[in-house]
Amino acid sequence: MSSSSPSPELVIRSIEPADVDPILLINEANVPEVGSVDADRMAFIVEESPIALVAEIDAAVVGFCLVLSHDSTYDSVNYRWFTQRYDEFMYLDRVAVDASCRGRGVGRSLYAEVDRRMALIDGADHLALEVNVDPPNEGSLAFHARLGFIEVGQQDTPYGIRVSMQLRPTSRP
Ligand SMILES: CC(C)(COP(=O)(O)OP(=O)(O)OC[C@H]1O[C@@H](n2cnc3c(N)ncnc32)[C@H](O)[C@@H]1OP(=O)(O)O)[C@@H](O)C(=O)NCCC(=O)NCCS
Repeated sequence: MSSSSPSPELVIRSIEPADVDPILLINEANVPEVGSVDADRMAFIVEESPIALVAEIDAAVVGFCLVLSHDSTYDSVNYRWFTQRYDEFMYLDRVAVDASCRGRGVGRSLYAEVDRRMALIDGADHLALEVNVDPPNEGSLAFHARLGFIEVGQQDTPYGIRVSMQLRPTSRP
């Protein structure tokens, strides 16, 4: 008789203070696809994010995403690009999934929960974000295209990377 272990359970939930250390580790393992931050900066972005999620598999944090409103004081040049052009949006500042857990629907599940929560917020009509195009982040470009994001512009950043600015409408029931 063969034995089998239970399927790993994926849980998407709101970030709690104890998650800042594990998400920092995942963040820093994924620079430059996401921007490098220290603990204070990460805590600030989490605080500024009405939607701040972690993905857990078997109770271990394996991914996260942070989504700001359109009226944050956040000083990112990419966030500012959207505030100068759009009113009704939320901005996904960063998403990362641990390399050992990619390609298993974790990113898709995080975005589905973001979409569910945005549908409850008046005026949260589009999710905005940027993806590196030079040098390219091929995996993220494919992921975001698959999830229905459309390029609405590009910009060169002061940190030497050209980025694609993308939007996706919120699904409202
Ligand atoms: C981008 C990222 C968040 C995707 O997360 P993930 O959990 O691996 O993605 P999923 O498994 O949920 O994939 C969702 C869909 O995107 C597609 N996709 C994901 N990664 C892909 C890749 N590298 N190449 C092609 N397609 C990809 C999948 O095929 C899947 O499509 P399907 O559901 O129709 O089969 C993850 O690769 C990551 O953390 N990358 C490093 C950090 C990063 O680049 N962040 C984004 C900065 S803009």
